[in-house]
Amino acid sequence: MDKLVIEGGRVLNGVITASGAKNSALPVIVATALAEEESLLENVPHGTDVEHICDILSSLGVAVRWDGPGRLRINGAGLNRVQAPYELVRKMRASFYVAGLLLGRLGEAVVPLPGGCSIGSRPVDYHIKGFEALGAQVALEHGYMKAYAKRLTGAKYYVSRASVGATINTMLAAVLAEGTTVLENAAREPEVVDLANLLNAMGAKIRGAGMDVIRIEGVKRLHGTEHEIIPDRIEVGSYLILGAMTGGKVVVENAMGEHLRSVLASLGAIGVEIEESTTAICVQRKDRLTPLNIATQQYPGFPTDLQAPFSVLLTQSDGVSTVRETVFDGRFKYVDELRRMGADIQVERDTAIITGPTQLTGAPVEATDLRGGMALVIGALAAEGKSEVIGLEHIDRGYERLEHKLQNLGACVQRISV
Ligand code: EPZ
Repeated sequence: MDKLVIEGGRVLNGVITASGAKNSALPVIVATALAEEESLLENVPHGTDVEHICDILSSLGVAVRWDGPGRLRINGAGLNRVQAPYELVRKMRASFYVAGLLLGRLGEAVVPLPGGCSIGSRPVDYHIKGFEALGAQVALEHGYMKAYAKRLTGAKYYVSRASVGATINTMLAAVLAEGTTVLENAAREPEVVDLANLLNAMGAKIRGAGMDVIRIEGVKRLHGTEHEIIPDRIEVGSYLILGAMTGGKVVVENAMGEHLRSVLASLGAIGVEIEESTTAICVQRKDRLTPLNIATQQYPGFPTDLQAPFSVLLTQSDGVSTVRETVFDGRFKYVDELRRMGADIQVERDTAIITGPTQLTGAPVEATDLRGGMALVIGALAAEGKSEVIGLEHIDRGYERLEHKLQNLGACVQRISV
């Protein structure tokens, strides 16, 4: 078990480079195995979630190998097993994407149902309805989803709550189906667009990704390709918030501002100065911060994945802010830990009420989920004195080389193996 020991209160300055998007890499890696040829992916982040999805694909017969930093070669020719192993799938909910892969490629999928989650209840019923819409017979038995289809056929499917995961899984199953699939109320997240771009480069016929109606004309087979994963908008946003929090001038490279409009607007609204170039965003806080009321939304609204980091920043605003979480029903668990650092935050149902400004003070804290964990790290870097952050296995899922990147900004942070 590792912990981060952070001596906070330093002004951070400099350049930090974001990695490729974890939430794009996971479905893109799975999608490459729809082809019986090799694909090369670049800008692949190397967090533990990516390692897990690679392990799951390997267990199904897919050849996966790293070919230098950020370069992953995948060949689906050997895909020959329809059952994903529970001990690997249980580690990560996005493992459920292999259901779309197996159903699309082999016509059969036996995948453990994901269990509980630290950010709220996260069923997969919309994914399953998508498979059924394409003609699959689905049974839930002994903790597994068993899906079978002699031949999937294109269909119209309305995606409830514009679910990201259900949009992606139905796309994965539909690309090799017979006929045309129309996804209505589809998720518009950049990660969905990245996946569609990859699949089209492999020979799929997908139109409309990034809008709420996606049309997928099934093709007989896909071929290998080369593809570069988009920058991680949530990692970029986390570092921008960190820069604003600690008061220096921080430049985040490998950033696409167009994926972060609502976040940049919110930073601007509280008084943070932002400068953008084509591939970098610079953040600087000069004045006192003002309070703000925000609510998380599906893209292009304010991302739920930055709710926790932004809430920490609002502890520095002069007055009362509110943050409403509309996507997940349990995403305020980090608040109790932040309070231990002195934050004045009350949670009432789906809303956090934050009163500032507060000088946070270092404390031992525990991360219980990925983004909540990052929020604690940001808090600790701004806090006066020493903090120790445990539960790093959550943070390591999605922030590659975190302590090295932070050290480059002048942060006093060390990873210690306990
Ligand atoms: C993706 O989760 C991301 N994960 C999440 O990032 C992100 O928070 C979320 O999208 C929203 O942007 C990955 O991409 C791997 P949803 P996903 O399906 O696909 C409910 C992170 O920190 N729902 O859009 O699971 C669900 O419970 C992670 O990197 C059902 O009820 O999100 C939620 O309330 C955390 N039934 C809402 O819909 C279903 O079958 C939206 O979830 C599916 C979802």
